Amino acid sequence: MSSSSSVLDPRALESLLQNIKETQTLSGLDDIRISILGKKGLLTEHMKTLGALSPDEKRTQGAFLNSFKSKIEEALESQKKLLETLALEDSLKEVWEDITLPIRPSISGKVHPLTQAKEEVLSFFTKKGFSLEEGPEIETSDYNFSDLNIPKHHPARQMHDTFYLKARNPQNPEEALLLRTHTSNVQIRQFKTKKPPFRFVSIGPVYRSDYDNTHTPMFHQIELVALEKGLNMGHLKGLLTEFLKFFFDLPELEIRLRPSFFPFTEPSAEVDIGYSHKDGKIVLGKAENWLEILGCGMIHPNVISNCGLDPSEIGGFAFGMGLERIAMLKYGIPDLRSFFEGDLRWLNHYGFSWGTSPSLFGSVVP
Ligand code: DAH
Repeated sequence: MSSSSSVLDPRALESLLQNIKETQTLSGLDDIRISILGKKGLLTEHMKTLGALSPDEKRTQGAFLNSFKSKIEEALESQKKLLETLALEDSLKEVWEDITLPIRPSISGKVHPLTQAKEEVLSFFTKKGFSLEEGPEIETSDYNFSDLNIPKHHPARQMHDTFYLKARNPQNPEEALLLRTHTSNVQIRQFKTKKPPFRFVSIGPVYRSDYDNTHTPMFHQIELVALEKGLNMGHLKGLLTEFLKFFFDLPELEIRLRPSFFPFTEPSAEVDIGYSHKDGKIVLGKAENWLEILGCGMIHPNVISNCGLDPSEIGGFAFGMGLERIAMLKYGIPDLRSFFEGDLRWLNHYGFSWGTSPSLFGSVVP
Protein backbone atom coordinates (compact mmCIF):
# COMPACT_ATOMS: atom_id res chain seq x y z
CA MET A 1 0.00 0.00 0.00
CA SER A 2 1.44 3.31 -1.01
CA SER A 3 1.21 6.30 1.28
CA SER A 4 -0.77 8.25 -1.29
CA SER A 5 -3.45 10.65 -0.19
CA SER A 6 -6.10 8.57 -2.01
CA VAL A 7 -9.36 8.29 -0.13
CA LEU A 8 -10.22 4.82 1.19
CA ASP A 9 -13.14 3.37 -0.75
CA PRO A 10 -16.11 2.65 1.63
CA ARG A 11 -16.81 -0.54 -0.34
CA ALA A 12 -13.43 -1.84 0.78
CA LEU A 13 -14.89 -2.04 4.30
CA GLU A 14 -17.64 -4.45 3.22
CA SER A 15 -15.24 -6.82 1.55
CA LEU A 16 -12.81 -6.72 4.50
CA LEU A 17 -15.64 -7.44 6.96
CA GLN A 18 -16.68 -10.33 4.73
CA ASN A 19 -13.11 -11.68 4.73
CA ILE A 20 -13.02 -11.57 8.52
CA LYS A 21 -16.30 -13.51 8.80
CA GLU A 22 -15.00 -16.18 6.46
CA THR A 23 -11.70 -16.67 8.28
CA GLN A 24 -11.64 -20.00 10.07
CA THR A 25 -8.40 -19.84 12.05
CA LEU A 26 -7.10 -17.57 14.78
CA SER A 27 -3.79 -17.15 12.94
CA GLY A 28 -5.69 -16.16 9.77
CA LEU A 29 -7.51 -13.51 11.81
CA ASP A 30 -4.24 -12.23 13.15
CA ASP A 31 -2.85 -11.89 9.61
CA ILE A 32 -5.88 -9.83 8.61
CA ARG A 33 -5.52 -7.65 11.73
CA ILE A 34 -1.89 -6.89 10.88
CA SER A 35 -2.66 -6.20 7.24
CA ILE A 36 -5.25 -3.57 8.24
CA LEU A 37 -4.27 -2.21 11.64
CA GLY A 38 -0.56 -3.13 11.80
CA LYS A 39 2.24 -0.58 11.45
CA LYS A 40 2.17 -0.88 7.69
CA GLY A 41 -1.46 -1.87 7.49
CA LEU A 42 -4.06 -0.47 5.12
CA LEU A 43 -5.72 1.75 7.66
CA THR A 44 -2.50 2.96 9.28
CA GLU A 45 -1.21 4.02 5.87
CA HIS A 46 -4.40 5.92 5.21
CA MET A 47 -4.21 7.61 8.60
CA LYS A 48 -0.80 8.91 7.62
CA THR A 49 -2.25 10.69 4.59
CA LEU A 50 -4.67 12.75 6.66
CA GLY A 51 -2.06 15.43 7.28
CA ALA A 52 -1.99 16.35 3.62
CA LEU A 53 -5.72 16.97 3.41
CA SER A 54 -7.64 20.22 3.79
CA PRO A 55 -9.25 20.80 7.22
CA ASP A 56 -12.69 19.91 5.85
CA GLU A 57 -11.50 16.75 4.12
CA LYS A 58 -9.50 15.87 7.20
CA ARG A 59 -12.63 16.04 9.34
CA THR A 60 -14.81 13.85 7.12
CA GLN A 61 -12.02 11.42 6.14
CA GLY A 62 -10.81 11.23 9.78
CA ALA A 63 -14.28 10.37 11.06
CA PHE A 64 -14.70 7.80 8.30
CA LEU A 65 -11.35 6.13 9.09
CA ASN A 66 -12.16 6.01 12.81
CA SER A 67 -15.48 4.32 12.28
CA PHE A 68 -13.82 2.02 9.71
CA LYS A 69 -11.28 1.08 12.37
CA SER A 70 -13.82 0.33 15.09
CA LYS A 71 -15.96 -1.76 12.73
CA ILE A 72 -12.90 -3.82 11.76
CA GLU A 73 -11.92 -4.21 15.42
CA GLU A 74 -15.44 -5.32 16.39
CA ALA A 75 -15.59 -7.83 13.53
CA LEU A 76 -12.16 -9.23 14.46
CA GLU A 77 -13.18 -9.56 18.11
CA SER A 78 -16.47 -11.30 17.46
CA GLN A 79 -14.97 -13.71 14.93
CA LYS A 80 -12.20 -14.47 17.42
CA LYS A 81 -14.76 -15.26 20.15
CA LEU A 82 -16.69 -17.49 17.77
CA LEU A 83 -13.56 -19.42 16.78
CA GLU A 84 -12.52 -19.79 20.42
CA THR A 85 -15.96 -21.12 21.40
CA LEU A 86 -15.89 -23.62 18.54
CA ALA A 87 -12.37 -24.71 19.53
CA LEU A 88 -13.50 -25.19 23.15
CA GLU A 89 -16.50 -27.23 22.08
CA ASP A 90 -14.26 -29.42 19.92
CA SER A 91 -11.81 -30.03 22.73
CA LEU A 92 -14.65 -30.77 25.16
CA LYS A 93 -15.95 -33.38 22.77
CA GLU A 94 -12.60 -35.10 22.95
CA VAL A 95 -12.40 -35.07 26.75
CA TRP A 96 -16.11 -35.84 27.27
CA GLU A 97 -16.66 -37.85 30.42
CA ASP A 98 -19.67 -39.85 31.53
CA ILE A 99 -20.17 -38.58 35.06
CA THR A 100 -22.62 -41.39 35.78
CA LEU A 101 -19.82 -43.95 35.50
CA PRO A 102 -18.45 -45.16 38.83
CA ILE A 103 -15.12 -43.64 39.73
CA ARG A 104 -12.11 -45.84 40.31
CA PRO A 105 -12.43 -47.57 43.70
CA SER A 106 -8.91 -46.52 44.69
CA ILE A 107 -9.97 -42.90 44.88
CA SER A 108 -13.52 -43.34 46.15
CA GLY A 109 -14.78 -43.14 49.73
CA LYS A 110 -16.54 -45.95 51.53
CA VAL A 111 -20.24 -46.71 51.74
CA HIS A 112 -21.45 -46.50 55.37
CA PRO A 113 -22.64 -49.89 56.68
CA LEU A 114 -26.08 -48.42 57.38
CA THR A 115 -26.42 -47.29 53.77
CA GLN A 116 -25.29 -50.72 52.67
CA ALA A 117 -27.79 -52.48 54.95
CA LYS A 118 -30.60 -50.16 53.83
CA GLU A 119 -29.87 -50.89 50.16
CA GLU A 120 -29.79 -54.63 50.84
CA VAL A 121 -33.16 -54.51 52.61
CA LEU A 122 -34.67 -52.39 49.85
CA SER A 123 -33.30 -54.57 47.07
CA PHE A 124 -35.28 -57.47 48.57
CA PHE A 125 -38.60 -55.77 49.31
CA THR A 126 -38.84 -53.64 46.19
CA LYS A 127 -38.58 -56.82 44.15
CA LYS A 128 -41.56 -58.15 46.13
CA GLY A 129 -43.63 -55.15 45.04
CA PHE A 130 -43.18 -52.95 48.12
CA SER A 131 -42.69 -49.25 47.53
CA LEU A 132 -40.47 -47.04 49.66
CA GLU A 133 -42.41 -44.50 51.72
CA GLU A 134 -41.32 -41.81 54.14
CA GLY A 135 -42.85 -40.01 57.08
CA PRO A 136 -41.90 -36.96 59.14
CA GLU A 137 -39.39 -37.18 61.99
CA ILE A 138 -41.21 -34.42 63.90
CA GLU A 139 -44.58 -35.99 64.54
CA THR A 140 -47.80 -35.33 66.45
CA SER A 141 -48.60 -37.51 69.47
CA ASP A 142 -51.70 -38.76 67.61
CA TYR A 143 -49.76 -40.12 64.65
CA ASN A 144 -46.98 -41.51 66.82
CA PHE A 145 -49.23 -42.98 69.55
CA SER A 146 -53.02 -42.51 69.67
CA ASP A 147 -53.84 -43.60 66.11
CA LEU A 148 -51.59 -46.61 66.62
CA ASN A 149 -53.86 -47.72 69.43
CA ILE A 150 -51.56 -46.41 72.18
CA PRO A 151 -53.92 -44.13 74.11
CA LYS A 152 -52.81 -41.46 76.62
CA HIS A 153 -51.46 -42.94 79.88
CA HIS A 154 -50.87 -46.30 78.18
CA PRO A 155 -47.67 -47.79 79.66
CA ALA A 156 -46.25 -48.23 76.13
CA ARG A 157 -45.89 -44.44 75.90
CA GLN A 158 -43.56 -44.46 78.89
CA MET A 159 -41.54 -47.32 77.43
CA HIS A 160 -40.61 -45.18 74.46
CA ASP A 161 -38.60 -42.49 76.38
CA THR A 162 -39.99 -39.85 74.09
CA PHE A 163 -38.34 -36.53 73.25
CA TYR A 164 -41.19 -34.00 73.48
CA LEU A 165 -40.85 -30.62 71.78
CA LYS A 166 -41.94 -27.31 73.26
CA ALA A 167 -43.93 -26.52 70.11
CA ARG A 168 -47.53 -27.77 69.88
CA ASN A 169 -49.36 -29.03 66.81
CA PRO A 170 -50.41 -25.77 65.05
CA GLN A 171 -53.69 -27.41 63.94
CA ASN A 172 -54.50 -28.60 67.45
CA PRO A 173 -52.70 -26.78 70.31
CA GLU A 174 -53.92 -29.51 72.72
CA GLU A 175 -51.65 -31.95 70.97
CA ALA A 176 -47.93 -32.33 71.67
CA LEU A 177 -45.25 -32.49 69.00
CA LEU A 178 -42.44 -34.97 69.46
CA LEU A 179 -39.57 -36.70 67.71
CA ARG A 180 -41.07 -39.92 66.39
CA THR A 181 -40.15 -42.90 68.54
CA HIS A 182 -40.70 -45.43 65.76
CA THR A 183 -41.36 -45.62 62.03
CA SER A 184 -44.90 -46.96 62.66
CA ASN A 185 -46.15 -43.39 62.16
CA VAL A 186 -45.70 -44.02 58.42
CA GLN A 187 -48.55 -46.58 58.56
CA ILE A 188 -50.95 -43.91 59.77
CA ARG A 189 -49.70 -41.30 57.30
CA GLN A 190 -50.19 -43.74 54.42
CA PHE A 191 -53.52 -45.23 55.50
CA LYS A 192 -55.07 -41.80 56.05
CA THR A 193 -54.04 -40.33 52.73
CA LYS A 194 -54.09 -43.16 50.19
CA LYS A 195 -56.38 -45.93 49.09
CA PRO A 196 -55.80 -49.64 49.82
CA PRO A 197 -54.21 -52.01 48.96
CA PHE A 198 -50.89 -51.06 50.58
CA ARG A 199 -47.48 -52.62 50.32
CA PHE A 200 -44.67 -50.42 51.49
CA VAL A 201 -41.47 -50.31 53.42
CA SER A 202 -40.09 -47.31 55.26
CA ILE A 203 -36.58 -46.84 56.59
CA GLY A 204 -35.53 -43.85 58.62
CA PRO A 205 -34.32 -42.28 61.85
CA VAL A 206 -36.25 -42.58 65.11
CA TYR A 207 -35.47 -40.99 68.49
CA ARG A 208 -35.49 -42.17 72.10
CA SER A 209 -33.82 -40.73 75.14
CA ASP A 210 -31.37 -43.53 75.84
CA TYR A 211 -27.59 -43.93 75.61
CA ASP A 212 -25.32 -46.93 76.28
CA ASN A 213 -23.53 -49.74 74.38
CA THR A 214 -26.71 -50.85 72.70
CA HIS A 215 -28.74 -47.60 72.64
CA THR A 216 -28.23 -44.23 70.95
CA PRO A 217 -30.74 -41.35 71.11
CA MET A 218 -31.14 -41.63 67.33
CA PHE A 219 -31.22 -44.91 65.46
CA HIS A 220 -32.94 -46.29 62.37
CA GLN A 221 -35.95 -48.52 61.97
CA ILE A 222 -37.42 -50.44 59.11
CA GLU A 223 -41.19 -50.67 59.01
CA LEU A 224 -42.88 -53.02 56.61
CA VAL A 225 -46.60 -52.95 55.93
CA ALA A 226 -48.97 -54.96 53.76
CA LEU A 227 -52.68 -54.18 53.89
CA GLU A 228 -54.86 -55.98 51.41
CA LYS A 229 -57.65 -58.56 51.35
CA GLY A 230 -56.87 -62.09 52.46
CA LEU A 231 -53.56 -61.71 54.30
CA ASN A 232 -52.75 -63.84 57.35
CA MET A 233 -49.87 -64.68 59.73
CA GLY A 234 -48.71 -67.38 57.30
CA HIS A 235 -47.94 -64.77 54.65
CA LEU A 236 -46.07 -62.71 57.24
CA LYS A 237 -44.00 -65.65 58.43
CA GLY A 238 -43.22 -66.76 54.87
CA LEU A 239 -42.07 -63.29 53.84
CA LEU A 240 -39.98 -62.80 56.99
CA THR A 241 -38.31 -66.18 56.67
CA GLU A 242 -37.39 -65.53 53.06
CA PHE A 243 -36.13 -62.04 53.88
CA LEU A 244 -33.98 -63.03 56.87
CA LYS A 245 -32.37 -65.90 54.96
CA PHE A 246 -31.65 -63.53 52.08
CA PHE A 247 -30.33 -60.70 54.25
CA PHE A 248 -28.01 -62.85 56.35
CA ASP A 249 -27.19 -64.94 53.29
CA LEU A 250 -27.90 -68.12 55.29
CA PRO A 251 -30.30 -70.58 53.57
CA GLU A 252 -30.29 -72.72 56.74
CA LEU A 253 -31.04 -69.87 59.19
CA GLU A 254 -33.51 -71.05 61.85
CA ILE A 255 -36.36 -68.69 62.67
CA ARG A 256 -39.14 -68.76 65.26
CA LEU A 257 -42.12 -66.55 66.02
CA ARG A 258 -42.76 -66.05 69.74
CA PRO A 259 -46.11 -64.64 70.94
CA SER A 260 -45.75 -61.08 72.22
CA PHE A 261 -47.66 -57.86 72.65
CA PHE A 262 -47.73 -54.62 70.68
CA PRO A 263 -50.70 -52.25 70.94
CA PHE A 264 -50.85 -51.84 67.14
CA THR A 265 -50.91 -55.54 66.21
CA GLU A 266 -53.14 -58.46 67.17
CA PRO A 267 -51.91 -61.16 67.31
CA SER A 268 -48.34 -59.95 67.85
CA ALA A 269 -45.08 -61.83 67.76
CA GLU A 270 -41.40 -61.30 68.24
CA VAL A 271 -39.13 -63.01 65.75
CA ASP A 272 -35.98 -64.77 66.91
CA ILE A 273 -33.13 -66.09 64.79
CA GLY A 274 -31.05 -69.08 65.82
CA TYR A 275 -27.39 -68.88 66.72
CA SER A 276 -24.63 -70.88 68.32
CA HIS A 277 -21.29 -70.00 69.89
CA LYS A 278 -18.05 -70.89 68.18
CA ASP A 279 -14.62 -69.84 69.49
CA GLY A 280 -16.26 -67.17 71.63
CA LYS A 281 -18.17 -65.72 68.66
CA ILE A 282 -21.82 -65.74 67.73
CA VAL A 283 -22.54 -67.79 64.62
CA LEU A 284 -25.98 -67.30 63.11
CA GLY A 285 -27.83 -70.28 61.68
CA LYS A 286 -28.22 -73.34 63.89
CA ALA A 287 -30.42 -72.62 66.91
CA GLU A 288 -28.60 -73.50 70.11
CA ASN A 289 -29.84 -70.14 71.37
CA TRP A 290 -32.29 -67.55 70.11
CA LEU A 291 -31.75 -63.88 69.42
CA GLU A 292 -34.67 -61.49 69.18
CA ILE A 293 -34.55 -59.53 65.95
CA LEU A 294 -37.88 -57.83 65.25
CA GLY A 295 -41.50 -57.30 66.25
CA CYS A 296 -44.46 -58.06 64.02
CA GLY A 297 -48.10 -59.00 63.84
CA MET A 298 -51.45 -58.56 62.15
CA ILE A 299 -52.40 -54.88 62.09
CA HIS A 300 -54.86 -54.18 64.92
CA PRO A 301 -58.46 -53.50 63.75
CA ASN A 302 -58.43 -50.29 65.84
CA VAL A 303 -55.49 -48.94 63.80
CA ILE A 304 -57.34 -49.66 60.58
CA SER A 305 -60.55 -47.98 61.76
CA ASN A 306 -58.64 -45.02 63.27
CA CYS A 307 -57.52 -44.30 59.73
CA GLY A 308 -61.05 -44.37 58.31
CA LEU A 309 -60.79 -47.85 56.76
CA ASP A 310 -63.06 -50.81 57.50
CA PRO A 311 -61.27 -53.64 59.39
CA SER A 312 -63.99 -56.11 58.38
CA GLU A 313 -63.12 -55.42 54.75
CA ILE A 314 -59.36 -55.28 54.82
CA GLY A 315 -56.48 -56.49 56.98
CA GLY A 316 -52.78 -56.94 56.88
CA PHE A 317 -49.50 -57.37 58.65
CA ALA A 318 -46.56 -55.23 59.71
CA PHE A 319 -43.18 -55.58 61.23
CA GLY A 320 -40.62 -53.23 62.75
CA MET A 321 -36.90 -53.86 62.93
CA GLY A 322 -33.77 -51.94 63.93
CA LEU A 323 -31.46 -51.24 60.99
CA GLU A 324 -28.34 -50.91 63.17
CA ARG A 325 -29.16 -54.18 64.91
CA ILE A 326 -29.26 -56.26 61.72
CA ALA A 327 -26.20 -54.41 60.32
CA MET A 328 -24.23 -55.14 63.53
CA LEU A 329 -25.13 -58.82 63.34
CA LYS A 330 -24.40 -59.18 59.65
CA TYR A 331 -21.16 -57.21 59.44
CA GLY A 332 -19.82 -58.06 62.93
CA ILE A 333 -19.85 -54.51 64.31
CA PRO A 334 -19.68 -54.66 68.13
CA ASP A 335 -20.67 -51.14 69.29
CA LEU A 336 -23.81 -49.31 68.21
CA ARG A 337 -22.42 -45.88 69.09
CA SER A 338 -19.56 -46.26 66.61
CA PHE A 339 -22.07 -45.92 63.73
CA PHE A 340 -22.49 -42.24 64.47
CA GLU A 341 -19.03 -41.14 65.58
CA GLY A 342 -17.87 -40.26 62.08
CA ASP A 343 -14.45 -41.87 62.60
CA LEU A 344 -12.82 -42.34 59.19
CA ARG A 345 -10.71 -45.26 60.43
CA TRP A 346 -13.92 -47.03 61.43
CA LEU A 347 -15.52 -46.26 58.07
CA ASN A 348 -12.48 -47.50 56.18
CA HIS A 349 -12.62 -50.72 58.17
CA TYR A 350 -16.36 -51.44 58.16
CA GLY A 351 -17.40 -49.47 55.06
CA PHE A 352 -18.07 -50.96 51.64
CA SER A 353 -16.40 -50.18 48.36
CA TRP A 354 -18.40 -48.18 45.92
CA GLY A 355 -20.17 -50.43 43.44
CA THR A 356 -20.51 -53.41 45.76
CA SER A 357 -23.71 -51.96 47.12
CA PRO A 358 -26.81 -53.71 45.79
CA SER A 359 -29.24 -51.53 43.95
CA LEU A 360 -32.86 -51.71 42.91
CA PHE A 361 -31.58 -53.20 39.66
CA GLY A 362 -29.89 -56.12 41.37
CA SER A 363 -26.96 -56.94 43.53
CA VAL A 364 -23.50 -56.32 42.11
CA VAL A 365 -21.71 -57.82 45.09
CA PRO A 366 -18.78 -59.74 43.53
N1 DAH B 1 -42.99 -49.82 66.45
C1 DAH B 1 -42.36 -50.86 67.25
C2 DAH B 1 -41.29 -50.25 68.12
O1 DAH B 1 -40.63 -49.36 67.77
C3 DAH B 1 -41.79 -51.91 66.36
C4 DAH B 1 -42.84 -52.71 65.69
C5 DAH B 1 -43.32 -53.85 66.25
C6 DAH B 1 -43.37 -52.27 64.49
C7 DAH B 1 -44.31 -54.58 65.64
C8 DAH B 1 -44.40 -52.99 63.87
C9 DAH B 1 -44.85 -54.17 64.47
O2 DAH B 1 -44.92 -52.64 62.71
O3 DAH B 1 -45.84 -54.91 63.86
O4 DAH B 1 -41.09 -50.69 69.19
